[in-house]
Amino acid sequence: MNPCRLIYKSTAVEVPVSNESIRDLIDHSSKKNSDAGITGLLLLCGRHFLQVLEGPPEKVNALFQKISVDSRHHTVELIEFQVSAESLFQEWSMRLVDLYDLPGEKRKLLMDKYEHADGEIFIPKEAVRVISLLLDARAICLTTPWKE
Ligand SMILES: Cc1cc2nc3c(=O)[nH]c(=O)nc-3n(C[C@H](O)[C@H](O)[C@H](O)COP(=O)(O)O)c2cc1C
Repeated sequence: MNPCRLIYKSTAVEVPVSNESIRDLIDHSSKKNSDAGITGLLLLCGRHFLQVLEGPPEKVNALFQKISVDSRHHTVELIEFQVSAESLFQEWSMRLVDLYDLPGEKRKLLMDKYEHADGEIFIPKEAVRVISLLLDARAICLTTPWKE
């Protein structure tokens, strides 16, 4: 079956989200997503999560059902679900980008383009701008060496 793309946003319960919680989440998710043939990117935008998941529709749907009842976040809002979607984020089974942690010049690039206040870049309201932010984050990942 053709892959689908699902995008949602949510609000973290733990603020700020600790490095340890994020590491646990990413380690677990990378392994599980890889087994399920799912790829994606998770942005941390201040206290908000923005995640894109791509892969087999039944696997992505099942994962989203689990994610939407996860007690580590709330106010989970579906932004887009597209079937037969062109894969745009196939580089990583799961990759986290904390927009607060980006090098200065990359943050400036995003701040010139997206609404922000007090150093926090806001998740855009329109789905098309959300995809644009995710693609910008992807481009930043591909041009920024990973720091542990
Ligand atoms: C913001 C957020 C993003 C998550 N993303 C994923 C993910 O991409 N893959 C995954 O397996 N679990 C993810 N989880 C965890 C799931 O909600 C759930 O805890 C996990 O799938 C349960 O795994 P299990 O079936 O091994 O118990 C995420 C949780 C949160 C709060």
